Amino acid sequence: MYNHKIIAADKPALYRDLAAALETLIEGEPDGIANMANAAALVFETLPDLNWAGFYRNLGGELVLGPFQGRAACIRIPFGMGVCGTAASTREVQRIDDVHAFPGHIACDSASNSELVVPIVRDGELLAVLDLDSPLTARFDAEDEAGCVRLAKILSAAI
Ligand code: SME
Repeated sequence: MYNHKIIAADKPALYRDLAAALETLIEGEPDGIANMANAAALVFETLPDLNWAGFYRNLGGELVLGPFQGRAACIRIPFGMGVCGTAASTREVQRIDDVHAFPGHIACDSASNSELVVPIVRDGELLAVLDLDSPLTARFDAEDEAGCVRLAKILSAAI
């Protein structure tokens, strides 16, 4: 049984413990899908106020839905489209306080109001993006971004 219930005093501690739990979960497992599935479950259970957490993989220059937690979502997203496609084409983190103000935002779940998308890159190749959605406006701050960039770095060696 895996029990990664994380209770932390502040956000840096939360992300430090989350990163440590992720390292433990993926250790010794070469299958990227399995690692993304466990990462999505861990992040969704640990971070408060999320309605969706998961991955879109770069399959031949198109984002394709990967392991996630939350409601069923759009399956294919072209590079440059929406928040995820923008993260993929620019390879820059997209931290969006109000998704309804983002040109071309793709609404998979009408409950989503803010979004954080982090590119996962290995050896110069975009492997996937990590996508977090929240029903709260401006749910994600700079500490969330730094924490999720750290998770993406860990995952870049494991997917
Ligand atoms: N909102 C995303 C689409 C993916 S869902 O949030 C799961 C976007 O605009 O790219």
